[in-house]
Amino acid sequence: MNERKTRAAAPGSSADVRARAARIVAAVAYEGLSLDTLIAAESFQSAQERGLIRALCYDSIRWYLRLDAILTQLLSRPDQKLSPQLRALAIVGLCQLLYTDIPAHAAVAETVNATREIGEPRAAGFLNAILRRMQRERQSLCAAVDRDEAIRTAHPRWLARSLADDWPDQSARILDANNAHPPFWLRVNRRHHTAAAYRERLTSAGIAVKAAGFAPESLLLERAIDVPDLPGFSDGWVSVQDGAAQLAAHLLAACPGERVLDACAAPGGKTCHILELQPELGELVAVDISAQRLLRVQENLARLGLQATLVAGDAADPAPWWDGRPFDRILLDVPCSATGVIRRHPDIKLLRRSDDMVTLARRQGRLLASAWSMLAPGGRLVYASCSALRVENSAVVEEFQRGQTGMQEVTHDVARQIGLPAATGTGYAIAAGMGDMDGFYYACLEKP
Ligand SMILES: C[S@@+](CC[C@H](N)C(=O)[O-])C[C@H]1O[C@@H](n2cnc3c(N)ncnc32)[C@H](O)[C@@H]1O
Repeated sequence: MNERKTRAAAPGSSADVRARAARIVAAVAYEGLSLDTLIAAESFQSAQERGLIRALCYDSIRWYLRLDAILTQLLSRPDQKLSPQLRALAIVGLCQLLYTDIPAHAAVAETVNATREIGEPRAAGFLNAILRRMQRERQSLCAAVDRDEAIRTAHPRWLARSLADDWPDQSARILDANNAHPPFWLRVNRRHHTAAAYRERLTSAGIAVKAAGFAPESLLLERAIDVPDLPGFSDGWVSVQDGAAQLAAHLLAACPGERVLDACAAPGGKTCHILELQPELGELVAVDISAQRLLRVQENLARLGLQATLVAGDAADPAPWWDGRPFDRILLDVPCSATGVIRRHPDIKLLRRSDDMVTLARRQGRLLASAWSMLAPGGRLVYASCSALRVENSAVVEEFQRGQTGMQEVTHDVARQIGLPAATGTGYAIAAGMGDMDGFYYACLEKP
């Protein structure tokens, strides 16, 4: 008897790691669970184990739709039924051969060994045959599926089509950017350091900076590091926030004494940035429908030494929580498909459905109407989303604008003032990957 195949793998062994990755991948692909949540629920014996499981899961999900198409070719019949966990383990195996530098013999052996861990010991020979055929016929197998751009870039067809419609000149670049490993952006807390001064701290600590962004506080690191290793992180010197997300507070441009509403605030990245930029605000009210998520806002405020009024409430139904005093500035960072941040959350490609877009756009329209009703005359509302799709962005703003008299859309003027490249259309849409930023959308609307 072959001892290696029959022995149950020890916790933390290579086969155990593949089996755990397969369980997580199956839970995303078949149960629709969030990858971040599943990873957060795991416990790891070492940083190395954590790194390997994370990498296997994120890359397998990032490339799932392409790997699944290759797997279908490798099956003796395309409709051959595999259990979710075995299919996911095969995906994890193919992922290692195509997207990691794990030596192929180790990738195949440990993935085959993991069949026992997932309760499918009889599938060892089958999986071994599939992975070895992938090694032999890699070129032709890939070429056959890559004729289709949606599959080549591992996007659901509805999303690839929507991106092509909304970004006719840039969709190919966006599809590729969505599969990149996300860059690591910092927001330097102006109350402690300028970006230049903090950059020197980073350099002294041996942390390389690649570039600065459009927001004067933003710095892009050469590579990701563990957040607690950032100089002064626990003392509130710096936060982790994408370069595009850092534009919100600058577009809002709150002035001393003003009353500001952050209408969908959690986890509070933009709330804190608004407060860092304007120490003399009258008041900042941070509302979120989730009391649980508001705890994250509280944590971030505490770490950064900032204060805001936190309200658990529905921004689309302010009657229960609003005192009727209008706000001078409102940031409305709507819940959305998050199709602009796929490189950070690749499971979006598997979890979102085209039908979701209609529901989301309706909810966004309701939130916009409600927020507008709380804006003071002469005030500014910034509508923001991390969606890449017109239906959640300019279409929502234009639809609302049609019913309003005197509303001024001033996005392009404000964008020019903060140094963004010239653009056209309603609002300002940032394509994922532009300037190494996430995909984002902003519209600045002013009330007469
Ligand atoms: C895109 S996130 C906001 C991110 C946040 N602005 C930041 O920068 O950290 C959207 C938030 O809207 C909240 N939300 C969803 N529907 C809401 C509603 N009707 N009223 C208030 N908050 C809502 C969600 O709980 C979620 O925290």
